[in-house]
Amino acid sequence: MEALRAPSPKPNFKTFTAISPPLQETETLDEDETETLDEDEKFDWFSQWYALMPVCDLDKRAPHGKKVMGLDVVVWWDKNENAWKVFDDMCPHRLAPLSEGRIDQWGRLQCVYHGWCFSGSGDCKFIPQAPPDGPPVHTFQKACVAVYPSTVQNGIVWFWPSTDPQFKDILTKKKPPYIPALDDPSFTFQMFNRDIPYGYEILIENLMDPAHFTVKLDREGGRPLEINVGKIDKDGFTAKQQNGEWAFVPPCLFHGSITIGGKPNESDGSTKGKVAQKPPRQALLIFICIPVSPGNSRLIFASPRNFAGWIDLFVSRWIFHINQNLIIDSDLYLLHVEEKKMMESDPRDWQKLCFVPTKADANVVAFRKWIKKYSDGQINWGNNFDRSLPPSPPREQLMDRYWSHVVNCSSCNAAYKSLNALEVSLQVFSVASVAIVAATKQGMISVAARNTLVVAAVLCFVGSKWLSHFIHKNFRYHDFNHAFR
Ligand code: FES
Ligand SMILES: [Fe+2]
Repeated sequence: MEALRAPSPKPNFKTFTAISPPLQETETLDEDETETLDEDEKFDWFSQWYALMPVCDLDKRAPHGKKVMGLDVVVWWDKNENAWKVFDDMCPHRLAPLSEGRIDQWGRLQCVYHGWCFSGSGDCKFIPQAPPDGPPVHTFQKACVAVYPSTVQNGIVWFWPSTDPQFKDILTKKKPPYIPALDDPSFTFQMFNRDIPYGYEILIENLMDPAHFTVKLDREGGRPLEINVGKIDKDGFTAKQQNGEWAFVPPCLFHGSITIGGKPNESDGSTKGKVAQKPPRQALLIFICIPVSPGNSRLIFASPRNFAGWIDLFVSRWIFHINQNLIIDSDLYLLHVEEKKMMESDPRDWQKLCFVPTKADANVVAFRKWIKKYSDGQINWGNNFDRSLPPSPPREQLMDRYWSHVVNCSSCNAAYKSLNALEVSLQVFSVASVAIVAATKQGMISVAARNTLVVAAVLCFVGSKWLSHFIHKNFRYHDFNHAFR
């Protein structure tokens, strides 16, 4: 399998350090911009594998509609072939979205508009309106659905964004980037996914930018950073930072590892006289940034670690997601606005629009250099879009958590339903307790029992109110005001 891009043994590092002299104005960060490449040297956005969703967040009982690279696709579980399938999300009959359909009792994908049924190979197997003694119209080529090549790797469904038959067996020639730690039983992790209302370029450069994390959370948090970026080529780049090594593997993957250090242990008698090296504690940050459409992207995130695995046994995934959503929300609005400003000008002029005098921006600059050199400074959406952004929705909609995460996350979805049921139960118990106290005559129940019921009613009422606030804030909408934090 194609492993993650490893840092080269003798990297041609360009040193961006806070202790080196500041860059001169002539030493601009757009040194390669005059270089022109042939078309075949350019990055082909439609000849890449794209992650769709973590398998743990896909329900096998239903089709799921997703948009990637401007393509509407439906991903569904084919129980006959024991595989996830990715189809064009459009019924060949009258173009209804198949993602609004269902899986029928024979495991076929059924369009619910008129009931046409399709097998995992895209063939139409049944047209209810076709007379049994008439021509077999369901066998016509035009009755088939277009199928995208797809595979499951690292617990994620990936697809190849072309239904051209020449790519049918693309998996034998090119595989999605492989992330060994996600299949390594000595590592533990939780998957996270979220739809983001700003574009791929803004998402990935935000995640590449370590400088903003500390400032956002701590008013005094900014500090100089030392970042060494290696050679930038069509396959991305690597970078060394104080906290570890990072790599950008185009188009979607940015990952890094942080080694916390190994502790030599005295060995037991079997290795007498030697010191056994305990494996260093390692944590990885894996960001898969998916282009959805202009102004929209999707993040799949995992942070495998080879220590403190017991935490995952006791803490549910949705509890981790509260904090991960909070981190996304903390700069969501400002990044949405930033992208608007950039698109009002021309993102291809990023190097002129932005002033990046410190070396802390080295990763971001490297990414912008990569996209400028290999893709003219922006994603090539093919014929799917011009580059204009959709209108901005109200802030509440922009930062909505329910549709951008909860409905797409099996853990949060289950927690949301359970907590709502608990809230209703508390309200019912509270009302019932008051009703019992009011309805029972003096002397029918003891004063102690009466008082207990009153206290229970109050506690349940307060509990349900608190729970309602908790559910809204963590599963619906959490505004973020940095000025008062
Ligand atoms: S549109 Fe799908 S069956 Fe008619
Ligand atoms: Fe979640």
